[in-house]
Amino acid sequence: MPLPEAAGLELRSPAGIPEAEFRDICALVQQRLGIELRAGKESLVTLRLAEPMRRGGFASLHEYMQHVKRDPNGPAMLEFIDCLTTNHTNFLREASHFEFWQQEVLLAQRQRPEIAVWCAASSSGEEPYTMAMYAVEALGEAAYRQVRILATDISPSILDQARRGVYREERLAPLPEAWRRRYFLRGEGKWQGHFRIKPEVGRMVEFRRLNLIEPLPPIGPFPAVFCRNVMIYFNSATRGLVVNQIRGRLEPGGYLFVGHAESLNGLASQLDYIKPSVYRLAGGGQPPGGIERS
Ligand SMILES: C[S@@+](CC[C@H](N)C(=O)[O-])C[C@H]1O[C@@H](n2cnc3c(N)ncnc32)[C@H](O)[C@@H]1O
Repeated sequence: MPLPEAAGLELRSPAGIPEAEFRDICALVQQRLGIELRAGKESLVTLRLAEPMRRGGFASLHEYMQHVKRDPNGPAMLEFIDCLTTNHTNFLREASHFEFWQQEVLLAQRQRPEIAVWCAASSSGEEPYTMAMYAVEALGEAAYRQVRILATDISPSILDQARRGVYREERLAPLPEAWRRRYFLRGEGKWQGHFRIKPEVGRMVEFRRLNLIEPLPPIGPFPAVFCRNVMIYFNSATRGLVVNQIRGRLEPGGYLFVGHAESLNGLASQLDYIKPSVYRLAGGGQPPGGIERS
């Protein structure tokens, strides 16, 4: 179960972790998720691992880590990964990307029988469902058949949550009122205060587990990939590896969208810089406006 950000957690001042244990955890997180945990995150880690440790009856962090490491793909390892990912996301987050994507991919390619795009690191689903809603706004009912969104994440529990597509009312605050009515069902009875994404929108999105730092399965090539607000947690070498893998899954002229706070400076060879946080693989005709080669 993902927990709130570090800032809110520090208040509880949990017991410190022995340095060797923390180094061990950092190494495993780096190896399995590509995420760099820095000194100062000890309290956060202790708090996030407290629940699986308590449930499993482990007397020490050392004992728990031995258990996690016993099976590299077992349930304990998957839960460990779940606990240490940060899943913060929102509907309509960094909205300019969706507008650009709507114009330059969806409308530009509306003649194609199928437009398949990839939302990497999709968290609890707000991002790919926003893409789906934009697609319907752009292409009308045809989008339900024509647009396919592959949404992937490393965290099994967040993917389950995304597949359910149920959100508390306050999560829908960024969306226009008309979109709530058009794309969501309002919960009743014990589901009062919740909304569920309509099945026809849900069917546009396929959720799958995928680790961006492992060799990718045979997917794509895509005219657009959203990989936003995950590379910020990777070190530069891992970012390079991930960008390289994604580039191999873009079709000529395909776009890569990264988070607004993320830069691919020096990492985006063969990708043209279109504007902040938007890159394009060379080929496939003229891009909009001027371009710079990274
Ligand atoms: C902060 S959320 C970003 C969600 C969304 N892309 C957005 O911008 O709102 C980062 C997501 O990346 C996922 N993640 C972390 N490491 C990953 C990896 N190695 N491969 C795939 N997903 C990863 C996490 O599980 C989390 O859901």
